Amino acid sequence: MSEEKKQQVTRRQFLNYTLMGVGGFMAAGLLISPVRMAIDPILKSTDEGGLVNVGVSVDDITNEPQRIDWKVEQVDGWYESEVDRSAWVYKNENDEIVALSPTCTHLGCVVSWEGNESYPNQFFCPCHNGRFEKDGTNVPGTPPLEPLHTYELEVRDGMLFLGDAKPQGEA
Ligand code: FES
Repeated sequence: MSEEKKQQVTRRQFLNYTLMGVGGFMAAGLLISPVRMAIDPILKSTDEGGLVNVGVSVDDITNEPQRIDWKVEQVDGWYESEVDRSAWVYKNENDEIVALSPTCTHLGCVVSWEGNESYPNQFFCPCHNGRFEKDGTNVPGTPPLEPLHTYELEVRDGMLFLGDAKPQGEA
């Protein structure tokens, strides 16, 4: 009899501990969210518009496309990671800065400026011989069916800031 009573108390205690544990987890979750929201802006390296300083002075940008690489912090829910980004950047005949994504619009390989000596003044994709004009327009008769995407850009204090790459006409 007393053994049975002892067993009941133990079960009750077990239930109490379990409920306290679950409640504790829920309370911690509720507390962490506001703290996380408060410090989240500090963790991001991009500004409100998602533009980031890519470390290139506009004075160093010429008429010849040059590849630049940078990293952005990406936050996906609770998961943060650093993502590599690249662009081909140059000044066009109107002295406007152009920043093209190096991702081929066919199947996503990486294009290079004058990557094939048979096609000077074009971007070349080695995967299926895709080609693009200097302004990113896809060369008819090659696999890509749309132009290279362009990065949103701004110049601040003489430095180049880039955002997301978008289809031409949308950036
Ligand atoms: S991925 Fe570039 S041509 Fe196919």
